[in-house]
Amino acid sequence: MKLVLAPLADFTNAAFRKIASELGADLTYTEMVSAAALAHGSSQTRHLFETLPGEGPVACQIFGHMPEELAFAAHEATALGRFVAIDLNAGCPMPRIRQGGDGAALVPQPELVHDLLVAIKRETNLPVTLKTRPGPSPDRVTLFELLDAAETAGCAGFTLHARFTSQMHGGDVHLDLLAELVQRAHVPVTGNGGVHDAATLKAMLDTGVDAIMLGRAAITDPMRFSTMKGRAAPPRRETYLRHIDYLLDLQGRLAASFPGDHVPPPDEFATAPLRRHLFHYFRGIPGAAEMRRRMNEIRTVEAMRDLAALFPPDDCTAP
Ligand SMILES: Cc1cc2nc3c(=O)[nH]c(=O)nc-3n(C[C@H](O)[C@H](O)[C@H](O)COP(=O)(O)O)c2cc1C
Repeated sequence: MKLVLAPLADFTNAAFRKIASELGADLTYTEMVSAAALAHGSSQTRHLFETLPGEGPVACQIFGHMPEELAFAAHEATALGRFVAIDLNAGCPMPRIRQGGDGAALVPQPELVHDLLVAIKRETNLPVTLKTRPGPSPDRVTLFELLDAAETAGCAGFTLHARFTSQMHGGDVHLDLLAELVQRAHVPVTGNGGVHDAATLKAMLDTGVDAIMLGRAAITDPMRFSTMKGRAAPPRRETYLRHIDYLLDLQGRLAASFPGDHVPPPDEFATAPLRRHLFHYFRGIPGAAEMRRRMNEIRTVEAMRDLAALFPPDDCTAP
């Protein structure tokens, strides 16, 4: 079974991707990269292209709705030689993205999706894939037109977040549509949506998908990449400390590669994800709620590292 870390804006930077691949993710994604911002010369946007040595395979996800901008983004991402695929985001439901004509605005426009994929393909020799949704709302399924658009354009894979755009990120996951997609598709299908435990994993596997993508379940517990594969996960303390090291490595690389840009200093760069993301490592340990409160006050890497003493020494997550 192939497990994939979903593209997650503000989370799937190189540090978290490296943790996920070490724990068992077979493929990871960058967060979505704005083709328009790249085309307008945004150097900060290029920070999202940064990878770390030792990362597993990474796909680069781009978003936009202008063929020439997406083609440029694909060209730039490919030229770095760091990625294994270029993925087009046709599913982000956030208003600021959709209202700009990007992300889920593409779900009802299979013809445009086709043209965008063709433009991307022209600029890269990497496999090109599509991540999308079944349709704008349950009364309008565009999934099979999107599949046709992707296959005609020469896509090498198709990821379905099996919730309609109208559902945003919640509610029922339409496994029936996913199963039908698997039947009809000539390319590998990755299933996504709501997988967080053995039961939801099995239900999605039963649709016949080639791979399963974890989104929020990976944020709250990346150990799932191990346990879902039947392996014991390493101690959380170790993973937590490695995550800090990788964040510092990433900060150093960004500061060196983009000397003219604002890159937060190491303490700030590493402690901000503690409040947003790394606090999940402490879930379930005695006094976790109090810890969470204390984390909001932590401003240095040293204080972050000191927290590791709180993990039980033999804390391994069983499969
Ligand atoms: C915080 C957050 C950020 C996300 N960012 C992206 C993104 O950059 N690109 C994308 O295709 N989907 C993005 N998504 C959607 C996820 O990739 C995934 O499709 C969704 O969370 C459903 O999977 P899940 O139920 O396993 O979380 C994001 C979701 C969340 C919660």
